[in-house]
Amino acid sequence: MNTVAVVGTQWGDEGKGKIVDMLAADADVVVRFQGGNNAAHTLVVDGRRYVLRLVPAGALHPGKACVVGNGTVVNPIALLGEIDDLKKNGFLKEPELFRLSYDAHMVMPYHIAIDRAREARAGKRAIGTTGFGIGPAYEDKMARVGLRFEELLDQTAFIERLRRNISEKNAYLKSVLKAKPVKADEIVEAMKKARRRLLPYLCDSGAYLSDTIAAGKRVLFEGAHGTMLDIDHGTYPYVTSSNCIASAAYDGVGIGPSNQLAVLGISKGYTTRVGAGPFPSEFTGQLADSLREEGGEFGSATGRPRRIGWFDAVQARYAARVNGLWGIALTKLDVLTGLDPIKICVGYVVKGKRYDQMPASHRMLLSAKPIYEEMPGWRESPANARTLDELPAAMRNYVDRVGEIVGVPIAMIGVGAGRDATIVLRNPFTA
Ligand code: GDP
Ligand code: IMO
Ligand code: MG
Repeated sequence: MNTVAVVGTQWGDEGKGKIVDMLAADADVVVRFQGGNNAAHTLVVDGRRYVLRLVPAGALHPGKACVVGNGTVVNPIALLGEIDDLKKNGFLKEPELFRLSYDAHMVMPYHIAIDRAREARAGKRAIGTTGFGIGPAYEDKMARVGLRFEELLDQTAFIERLRRNISEKNAYLKSVLKAKPVKADEIVEAMKKARRRLLPYLCDSGAYLSDTIAAGKRVLFEGAHGTMLDIDHGTYPYVTSSNCIASAAYDGVGIGPSNQLAVLGISKGYTTRVGAGPFPSEFTGQLADSLREEGGEFGSATGRPRRIGWFDAVQARYAARVNGLWGIALTKLDVLTGLDPIKICVGYVVKGKRYDQMPASHRMLLSAKPIYEEMPGWRESPANARTLDELPAAMRNYVDRVGEIVGVPIAMIGVGAGRDATIVLRNPFTA
């Protein structure tokens, strides 16, 4: 298939960035279609670690076009900082290869201030957001008061609208949230400077991608966050503010669903979550602490320790359904080395009743007790394995069992953080 989407099947941080970076070698264009810099996608190339938040993870391959679609919310200052860092490291050398949709919405300092003030006031009810203003920016989009990048075309009208928004948001910040207002003049000055640098990148992402696909080129859609963080299909209200599932790729760039996607779901061999909300297969204690250390499970965006749990097959089957998964990349299996037994959550008990499929109300997950199946672990490191035959037998059994129980073929197996540390069984571009 020439059009491939990579999506998270859990609560984010599944290792999407690494897989996108690897698949980008086979793609012509890599596109972000939702979310903002609440995403943090880590790539390890030649032993160096790069964290991309807004720029698609195709940027580390020279000559690949990178597009940020209309479905995203973009902090312009953060984007320019990320572009500068990439350029300093010798990437994004050809400016015409980076494009940003006219219709993407801007994340402004007042969105960040509102996000943080609300979280601080919520106390125990806090969602545990990244604090990057994502929810308030999407709220403004839906309320039809957001600022889109197209507004930069007319500086005077843009500044007028920006000042109006700032004064409304400051009133809300002061009187409702009892928080410090943002500084209008500083924001206006920063945006005037940013405007000149942003204008050359602006494009019609739908027209560009339609033409690209019609020309027979390969497009890779890079999802952010994960299925269980999807605003409609995740564990609401403990979710992010965008649709993160595969179908969001269409409206998030402006192409139609007749362009069929091969959807590759990324899933860790265990589960993590940052922030609050239900997590049925979570465990704590020494085992969780050592797995967190071993897997480096600390948020790339915020440094927060990630919560740890076993692989949840109920949740994976649900992700397979809502995304229409073509295959799964099972990542970070090396991190499970030395654990024995390894558990797979195969069902839940909620108020005495067994569920083998996701309960219709995600609120039921708050009291769901996991039912586990146990698999023997392995002691030999799989880090150098590049074929199935080179994997420890118990690890192969675990991978086979996950594929069987989820009902989706395992297309890739992650055995390390480096670009090459993936066993590819099926490549969605060529299979
Ligand atoms: P993303 O947000 O889905 O792109 O994932 P993150 O980058 O937030 O978190 C995944 C982390 O795991 C990153 O530090 C990756 O470098 C790392 N990683 C990805 N795949 C593997 C793997 O197969 N094994 C190991 N050990 N680390 C991996
Ligand atoms: P990537 O793309 C992990 C979580 C936050 C919080 C909730 C809402 O790196 O996988 P938000 O700031 O979006 O309003 O926070 O969503 N969250 C993520 N968790 N990885 C991510 O992105 C996330 N993006 C948002 O921790 O619980
Ligand atoms: Mg991440």
